[in-house]
Amino acid sequence: MKKLLFFVCSCLMVVSSFSQQATHTIRSGEIWPDDQGIHINAHGGGILKYNDTYYWFGEHKSDHTSDALVGVTCYASTDLVNWRNCGVALSVSDERGSDIERGCILERPKVIYNKVTKKFCMWFHLELKGRGYDAARYGVAVANRPEGPYKFLYSQRANAGTWPIGFGQQELAVLDTLDASHFQEWTPAWRKAIDEGLLVRRDFGTGQMSRDMTLFIDDDGKAYHIFSSEENLTLHIAELTGDYLHHTGRYTRVAPAGHNEAPAIFKHEGTYWMITSGCTGWAPNEARMFSAPSIWGPWTQHPNPCRGPKAEITFGGQSTYILPIGDQYIFMADIWRPRHPSDARYIWLPIEFEDGKPIVRWRDEWEVGK
Ligand code: DGJ
Repeated sequence: MKKLLFFVCSCLMVVSSFSQQATHTIRSGEIWPDDQGIHINAHGGGILKYNDTYYWFGEHKSDHTSDALVGVTCYASTDLVNWRNCGVALSVSDERGSDIERGCILERPKVIYNKVTKKFCMWFHLELKGRGYDAARYGVAVANRPEGPYKFLYSQRANAGTWPIGFGQQELAVLDTLDASHFQEWTPAWRKAIDEGLLVRRDFGTGQMSRDMTLFIDDDGKAYHIFSSEENLTLHIAELTGDYLHHTGRYTRVAPAGHNEAPAIFKHEGTYWMITSGCTGWAPNEARMFSAPSIWGPWTQHPNPCRGPKAEITFGGQSTYILPIGDQYIFMADIWRPRHPSDARYIWLPIEFEDGKPIVRWRDEWEVGK
């Protein structure tokens, strides 16, 4: 009897593992094993499609800390379901005082390919070791192959000594009259002052703060760095140079004093759509959505695009990237586990359109391309 039971159970396990492999489904929130059977460790990440392969880059998270002890990991796949671990694409450094010294905070890496220079360009949010989230820098690294190794180039704050688009004589004259000590945070007067550029002026010399971020390449090949700036109160969109390794100095601000993190962007039929989160640390909150007819705006806010259970907290996750595949878009988010960072999970859901606007509906299981 025992033998028969064992035989039946074994058959069921074989059948179930076969059907899991055959269905090619995405199951958000579950363990996603790589080709070695280990849960994928690439958080706050993004995807690069190069030739016929998707490369997934993300933060390596350790079991007990969110500090970067390893660096940026890379996984490769041709179907977005089965992932081969390509190892560490950008390694943290053991050199004392290095910007990317082991133990720094290195978050939300994204990689874009430059067709002219034939280089793979990685940008990420960097916080210097031992300084919490004060440094608020972006970092840049470059490689000759998608999976790396990436060579760290530099890190800094953004657009030092440059005013955003729209800051002309008149705006600067208003800004001159503002006295930071007069404002109490979160009051309407303070919000107005933030909108008018109180923090842009504060950081004008040292460069603008640069935290949660993504990259976007437009149809004309121009690339943009989109990041939370001004104490996470205002998003900045900054144009990149032709080699995708620097800012040109041209940048705009989105939703001043709106407190947005985790920007993820896509373009559909000429409209730019951006999904973000609020700022509640590792805890999930309600997603926000914006659209614009041009990358430079004007950006209009829309209601939360999420639908289904836990839609009011982005299904327990926080946006990180939106991947176009053919005429579909995949919304990608992280379910953070701050007490066990390496066990953080992934949410990938297809974007649907309702009355011309994107929505993200929860699905327990779905098949890419279907
Ligand atoms: C929210 C950000 O989106 C994450 O990338 C990370 O920086 C956490 N805050 C840290 O609390």
